[in-house]
Amino acid sequence: MKKEVVVIGLGYVGLPSVINHVKNGHKVIGFDIDEEKVDMLNKGISHLDTVLDETVRMIKERGAEFTCDAQRIKDKDVYIIDVPTPIDKYKTPDLSYIKSAVDLIKNKVKTGSLIVLESTTYPGTTEEYLVAEFSKLGYHIGTDLFIAYSPERIDPGNTQSLSAKIPRIVAGHTDKCLSKVEEFFGSHVSTVPNLKTAELAKIYENTFRLVNIALADELQKISDNLDIEVGEVLEAAATKPFGFMKFTPNLGIGGHCIPVDPYYLTWLMESRGIETPLIQTAGKINDSMLDYYLEKIITYANKKSDKNLDEMNVAILGVTYKKNVADTRMSSVITLIKELEEMNVTVVAYDDIILSNTNSPVESITSLEGDYCQLKKFDMVIYAVDHELYEKNKENIIDNSQLFYDLTLV
Ligand SMILES: NC(=O)c1ccc[n+]([C@@H]2O[C@H](COP(=O)([O-])OP(=O)(O)OC[C@H]3O[C@@H](n4cnc5c(N)ncnc54)[C@H](O)[C@@H]3O)[C@@H](O)[C@H]2O)c1
Repeated sequence: MKKEVVVIGLGYVGLPSVINHVKNGHKVIGFDIDEEKVDMLNKGISHLDTVLDETVRMIKERGAEFTCDAQRIKDKDVYIIDVPTPIDKYKTPDLSYIKSAVDLIKNKVKTGSLIVLESTTYPGTTEEYLVAEFSKLGYHIGTDLFIAYSPERIDPGNTQSLSAKIPRIVAGHTDKCLSKVEEFFGSHVSTVPNLKTAELAKIYENTFRLVNIALADELQKISDNLDIEVGEVLEAAATKPFGFMKFTPNLGIGGHCIPVDPYYLTWLMESRGIETPLIQTAGKINDSMLDYYLEKIITYANKKSDKNLDEMNVAILGVTYKKNVADTRMSSVITLIKELEEMNVTVVAYDDIILSNTNSPVESITSLEGDYCQLKKFDMVIYAVDHELYEKNKENIIDNSQLFYDLTLV
């Protein structure tokens, strides 16, 4: 049945959510506090590399609205919360965005509204920040207001993972809340018994990745010490058709999920007096990789050139936190660039994916625009992100490099 839906937060999760719900025939309003994003969307321009302008125009034609005006979101059937859940510098969860989203809709919901939290967070958040708050206002959750948790599993930049096709975990505060959210999301739904199970399942998925990447990082160090190619070890192990999943070593995991979400769990457990040494160690290994690779780069430069690294001018190819996205959030390549600059290395950063996908200019990142001859002027090229565009031209890149260091070849 067609519903009036509000999506709060129009970022990497919220905007695709608007698109999916419009495609499912609902009347959707996207709300964000960021006026610039809302202005762009209202002009039919996407602020995300993962969403095309024409898709924004298409959903607008099909009735989607974008607004910063809180009055526009009153008395709707469904409220979906897609706001950030970052950590601070002490790796402590920052739930202020969830709190402000809840404050925003407190006096906007109507009797019968369904509220779905999609942000990734620690087990207990939906009860503490939504169920408790709306109960205080006099709502009977499960009777006159319905609260659910359904984590988003989108994988930006991965064209195989169109979010609509990924099974969706759903949980409700009561059975009635669950049936409301199941009915809303329809197919591809995987029901779990309660809110905390759904919250923990999402964090566990990303913690699983952190721990396994850290193991691959450690394998990199072991292989280097034994003078074995880590990539060849991984490929050999991956021929086993069961019980093994290939994860690859990494300069340092970036983005908004894997370097963040596990700390929601470690923080929660610490507050309950429980140790989580495996997750903590995995985080430390991940944090150590940038210095480890920097050492490798220095050794390589010393071995292959008569110049020291600090006398070189270096091109970095690819700056984003992973391939084929224009997103630089928590990108380790940016930290690498800063560290190289602190060592007095002259660095020029290239990322053609960022520049071809972003509607506003990005300072200090430049573009090769297919002219790989430009690389000849550098003493060394560090190939940091294997965007498809660069992979297609890799031979050309190598041919034009005086020294070529491949950070992606592991
Ligand atoms: N990015 C991903 O790949 C991904 C995947 C799965 C889950 N998640 C989770 O989804 C959540 C959102 O992540 P994201 O990547 O979309 O973040 P984002 O930073 O891209 O977008 C969040 C948006 O929320 C807006 N916002 C902040 N406070 C607001 C408020 N009070 N009212 C309205 N809008 C507000 C911001 O302006 C921003 O546009 C996080 O919990 C994240 O961990 C992200």
